[in-house]
Order: sequence, then C-alpha cells, then structure tokens
Amino acid sequence: MSSGNGIVVLDFGGQYTQLIARRIREHHVRSVIVPFETPLNELCELDPEGLVLSGGPSSVTDPEAPHADPGVLEMGVPVLGICYGLQWITARLGGKVRSALQHEYGRAQLEIASEPTPSALFRSVPSPLPVWMSHGDEVIDLAPGFRASARTGTAIGAIEDADRRIYAVQFHPEVRHTAHGEQILANFLFDICKAPPLWVSQAFIEQTIESIRERVGDGIALCALSGGVDSSVAAALVSRAIGDRLHCIFVNNGVLRKNEFESVTATMGRLGLNLTPVDATGRFLEKLAGVTDPEQKRRIIGNEFIYVFEEEALRLGKVDFLVQGTLYPDVIESVSVRGPSATIKSHHNVGGLPETMKMQLIEPLRDLFKDEVRRVGADLGLDSEILNRQPFPGPGLAVRILGEVTPERLELLRGADEIVQGEISAADLYESIWQSFAVLLPVRSVGVMGDQRTYGYTIALRAVHSEDGMTADWVRLPYDLLEKISNRIVNEVHGISRVVYDISSKPPSTIEWE
Ligand code: XMP
Repeated sequence: MSSGNGIVVLDFGGQYTQLIARRIREHHVRSVIVPFETPLNELCELDPEGLVLSGGPSSVTDPEAPHADPGVLEMGVPVLGICYGLQWITARLGGKVRSALQHEYGRAQLEIASEPTPSALFRSVPSPLPVWMSHGDEVIDLAPGFRASARTGTAIGAIEDADRRIYAVQFHPEVRHTAHGEQILANFLFDICKAPPLWVSQAFIEQTIESIRERVGDGIALCALSGGVDSSVAAALVSRAIGDRLHCIFVNNGVLRKNEFESVTATMGRLGLNLTPVDATGRFLEKLAGVTDPEQKRRIIGNEFIYVFEEEALRLGKVDFLVQGTLYPDVIESVSVRGPSATIKSHHNVGGLPETMKMQLIEPLRDLFKDEVRRVGADLGLDSEILNRQPFPGPGLAVRILGEVTPERLELLRGADEIVQGEISAADLYESIWQSFAVLLPVRSVGVMGDQRTYGYTIALRAVHSEDGMTADWVRLPYDLLEKISNRIVNEVHGISRVVYDISSKPPSTIEWE
C-alpha cells in the first residue's frame, strides 16, 4: 500500500543530488534529501516509497569512501542507485568494482538489453540511448542475483535485481543530456515504487505550515523582506503558520527604485503580514556620500542594513527565529558530503548577522527551486507582480550609479529605470527577460535639444537572458523598442542626453556594472 511519503534521496555528495530531487518533484512525487549516513531507524521513520542513492565524488574502493547503513538495501522498498550509488550497491552486495581503465565523462550510447526481457526501468525508452556519464570506477563482477540490464561501449550501464527491486544506473538520468531521463525516473517512481503523484504545492504548503507551527511553538520570528519573490513567499508561508508572531521588516535603504518602498509596503500589507516599514534613507545616503568604490558601497549598505535590522529586533525584545528565503540553489554549493548541515551559506541579503543575535534559522524554501517557489507563492495568493519580479540586487541602485551616489543622481536613474521597466513590460517582454535595467554613467556628452546645446549624463541600457545569473547573454531587443526607450529617456529625464545599449555577455562582463 502506498504511503504517499515520496522518495528519500540519500546524498553521497554528488553534484546532481538536488537535481534528482527536483526531477522527482517534477513528477509530483515528494522527495527529500538526507545525508548518506542517516541512521536506518530515521530512514524507516520517513516511511518512503523508494530510495535513491545519489552519485558522489568518491571511489567506492577508497578506504574513506562514504557508506550508508547496509540495512537501506533491506528496507523492503525499491532502490535506485545512480553512479556512485550503483558502485556502492555492487560492492555492498558482493560484486566487484575497480578504478576504470577508461574513465567515461560526457556523452555515451547506452545499449539496453532486450533478453530475457527489457528492464522495467527502461519501459518506453529506445535503444541505443544517448546518456550522460561521469565516472571513474566500473563494475567488473556483478553482485549475486544481479544482471546487467544495459551497457555502454566500455562499461556496464545499468544493473538490477528485479526480485529485490534494486535497480542502478551508471549514467545520470536526471540531467537533460540524457535522452528520456524523465521516462526512466517515471518508470522507477510509478511502475516500480508505485508512488502516487502527490507533490503539489498545496501539499507542500500544508506540511510546511504544520512543521513550522510545531517548531516555533509560541516563539517569535523575524523576517527581513527585500520585496523580491523569495523573502515574500517565505514570509507569507510562515505568517500562515504563526500569524502575527512573525514580524516582518522592510528597510528603505535609500537606493530602491521609484515608488518601490511604498508599493512593496502596500502589497505586503494586503497580504496581511505584520509589517514594519523602516525608512532609513537618510542614514544610508549619509554613509554613501563621497564613496565611489563599488565594494565599499556594498559594505556600507550591508553593514547599515544590519544596524537597522538589529535595532528593530531589539525593539521587539526576545526573538527566537529568523526567517530567510534561502532556496535550493543557494544551498547547493555549501552541501558537504559529510552532511548538508555542516556549512550553510547565509542568505546574501541578511548575511553577516551578528552571532550575538542567536536566532535559529527558519528556511521554509530551502528544498525548492525558483519556479517551485513561484507556484507556492501563487497558491498563497501573492500577486504576479511580486512572483515574476526580475532579480534586484541588495545594494540596489547604488551599484547602478557609477561613481558617487547622490540624491540628484538617484533621481535621474529612477526616472530612466521607470521608463525601461514600463516599456519592457508594455512590449510584453518583462517576464521572458532575466533582468532589464538602466545604469547611470558618470560620463557627460554633448547633445542638442531644440536650439539648445545640452551637456548631460549617459544612460546605459542593460537587458540580459540568463538561467541562474551565473552566465548571461544580452537580449536582442527590437530596434523600435530601443528607439522608444532612448527617446523617452532623453526627452523625459532632464539631465540625460545620451542612451547606449550594453551588448556584453557574462562572462567576460558581469550583469551589473559594479
Ligand atoms: P553579476 O553582476 O555578478 O550579478 O553578474 C549576478 C546576479 O546577482 C545580482 N547581484 C547582487 N545581488 N547583492 C545581491 O543581492 C549584490 O551585491 C549583488 N551583485 C549582483 C545581479 O543583479 C544578478 O542578478
């Protein structure tokens, strides 16, 4: 009988572990990741419908190799080993693994065995199949009871003991380079584990609310809103769980966009959050006066934010929990093979909060990817305006004004930025573009308006496509749109006499100019 508890992914430190969990959730099946050394009784308590043993950087032949409790192969639930998972299962159950004569990285062709019958794992999957490999070890002797259900030119590609419902693949079905990887995972989830499709955001919302309630008890929690999607969804979720015992703070650091402080405050108010807007413009701009170095600007804004935040926290008295909108991608690089809890990166917007504040972290979104967060946000009733907002850096317009940040320059940039946002939205491009914005350059050039010679500043327009902000390419905006934006900026923002379009990609440039 299916429990609906989903799949537990045992993390052996593989770079794709979170992707495996995500792919499982894309099939609407719950998935949680736990460290490989999680005790058997804890795994049994999770009562999963199946286990996935992830890949990992280690060699199973290494004395330091990570080992799960051998009992995981006897829990009576189906198991899927991936890469290191396959080698570990083989070594554990009496087969032989050695360092491969030929390491296999990248694309390979998988030949699926059709005799005696094709594996249930490969139902509706064609052969040969282009798959993605990344391994240095290979199986040379199968464990008793196993058969090779697929091979590549140089290695065993998949093994199984269908009676014990233990399956394993040497390649990575979770990456897009593996053709029909989704089908392979679906076969495991639905045909082999018989997992009911359950992971829908409503179920996630209910479970999360329940566990936050349990954890917080009658404690007090604090959340710093940035106006972006992550902190808004995190706050909305926690507020559903504990109501007004969640205190939200939204700080105007003086370098927000035009009307942003007011509009975010109003939107968050409509959501019923217990919100304290703090207008600290004066103190931020005072500290920024005369500063031109980009990193110094960032430091000043970061530090000042912490002072403001601390003051507000002190005003509340004892605060037990700090809510952060950390997402899976924020966590990925800090997950260590010796347990994900070892090093957790703090969210960059509130990073560096003093130790003395001693608040426990609540990170309700740390298992989710951005699109999942948007879905949860939509189900919580957040406006699409918040959910689909383009990323905006913590140091705000300060890193889009090259040189000193002054009230006059902020005024110029806000005017130009508003036009860019408005025109990109009017052209129905806002949601398909990762970021689109204006940058104020401290460069003046000659222009002519009417019969008057002008000598104004330059606006650089930036619009980029990106998946995750790590790499980016400039957007081929239509000429007519560029023309309209340029005309409007020069005509409507007095003090700007020229607009240029930034056609650099990242790398070698960055998205922001500072
Ligand atoms: P770069 O400019 O490094 O930006 O290509 C990559 C992504 O990060 C955002 N960004 C920041 N976000 N604090 C933030 O919260 C910062 O100091 C910061 N600098 C850049 C940028 O907007 C882009 O999405």
